[in-house]
Amino acid sequence: MELIFEKSRPGRSAASIAESDVPFINIDAVIDKKYLRAGLDLPEVAEVDLVRHYTNLSRRNFGVDLGFYPLGSCTMKYNPKVNENAAALPGFTGLHPYGDDELAQGNMQLIDELEQCLCNIFGMAAFTLQPAAGAHGELTGVMMIKKYFEKRGEKRHLILIPDAAHGTNPASGALCGFETVTLRTNGEGGVDIEHLKSLMTEDVAALMLTNPNTLGLFERNIETVSSIIHAQGGLLYGDGANANAFLGITRPGDLGFDVIQLNLHKTFSTPHGGGGPGSGPVGVGRALVDYLPVPRIVKTHDGYRWSNKFPDSIGRVKAFYGNFNVIVKAYTYIRSLGAAGLQRATSMAVLNANYIKEKLKPYFDLPYDRICMHECVFSGSRQVSENGVHTTDIAKRLIDFGYHPPTIYFPLIVPEAIMIEPTETESKETLDAFCEAMIAIAREAKDSPQLVKDAPWSTEVKRLDEVLAARKPDVCWKKK
Ligand SMILES: Cc1ncc(COP(=O)(O)O)c(C=O)c1O
Repeated sequence: MELIFEKSRPGRSAASIAESDVPFINIDAVIDKKYLRAGLDLPEVAEVDLVRHYTNLSRRNFGVDLGFYPLGSCTMKYNPKVNENAAALPGFTGLHPYGDDELAQGNMQLIDELEQCLCNIFGMAAFTLQPAAGAHGELTGVMMIKKYFEKRGEKRHLILIPDAAHGTNPASGALCGFETVTLRTNGEGGVDIEHLKSLMTEDVAALMLTNPNTLGLFERNIETVSSIIHAQGGLLYGDGANANAFLGITRPGDLGFDVIQLNLHKTFSTPHGGGGPGSGPVGVGRALVDYLPVPRIVKTHDGYRWSNKFPDSIGRVKAFYGNFNVIVKAYTYIRSLGAAGLQRATSMAVLNANYIKEKLKPYFDLPYDRICMHECVFSGSRQVSENGVHTTDIAKRLIDFGYHPPTIYFPLIVPEAIMIEPTETESKETLDAFCEAMIAIAREAKDSPQLVKDAPWSTEVKRLDEVLAARKPDVCWKKK
């Protein structure tokens, strides 16, 4: 496909701009010539060509509105269109972020109400909506943990992180100056309690527990884990990015978590393909409320106000007040589903994942064979040892069947991992068709392995050098 620049023909334009009625200013007389551009190489195309170009480009992409997108851990969840309508309301989009509190009362009320909803859903004392993503929320949470121990005069320098945690957890701990220590997963995919006991000392500030973990499994011994950590004065951090697995079923606050971060862009819709925007609210128990980022919303007798009067706060973690459009979508999602709807969404997400797990179990290795939560993790080891077909080949072949591949090679503790997250909105027909495709590929891997190894066959480009594409992306057009 030609680039828009290659479609350019001198003199063509997609715009007609009215004659200016503002008095002419001779720019050369006002701005020093050295700051002025000699020219600007913009493509010159007619409106119809411009529209066709970008429409065609958009149709080459794959999104959750086009088809099944079972990208485990990333939760590519369907985003109800009413959320977009709400987020696009002029009162939300038109407000200047520097506008006075008086002009932003409705928006502030929405932020306050979403904070309250999250407190109720997750059993926490307070929430901040400032962080812009899950990893940013983790960083914010760990910064609060650090400040908490500083205030108490305790020099704890370790953070425990299970090997089934999300990869951003050790990064967040290390960024705050903690040493991270890996905690083993036991044979049934949970925390190895004996290992935890041996590691837990008064040097440990916190355990960062992804729950459900990256195997898609809920921590069965959560109460024991919580009491081991708290008995030594440590804090329990919950990576709640996958909270869509337990909405309305259980609450982290009731399970003993002192801090949790959420990924609004996963649990509460807003698909986040392409890198954003996201929102990673952090909820805390009573002990950590004073350390929340500022400014915080306070309700006064004459309305909502932003306040910085929290002397123990870790300070600001983001410009302005978070990614407001994601906040509006999460609010709309929660209010339109209600408590019963959220619980049903979770139940359906868990049911769908278990349905796929059971259907594919005869064809792919299942390293942890127990009821999963919102996602299930297979291993492609059998296909490797029997026919030399790797998980990456299976993923590429799925593209030929019209599906976005699942997450592969993650979690790291499962060799040749295939991590499938169907989400709650997919119908039985869609799940069946996907499973049929996976089963067909498992058969091909046996009968004609080269067909799978050379996939995809239906795309314009085949196997790209993914490392080169990620490290040295060539995205700048240069004039010949
Ligand atoms: C369990 C878990 N924690 C943290 C993150 C990081 O979230 P983000 O990509 O928004 O920074 C993710 C992302 O998918 C996740 O699955």
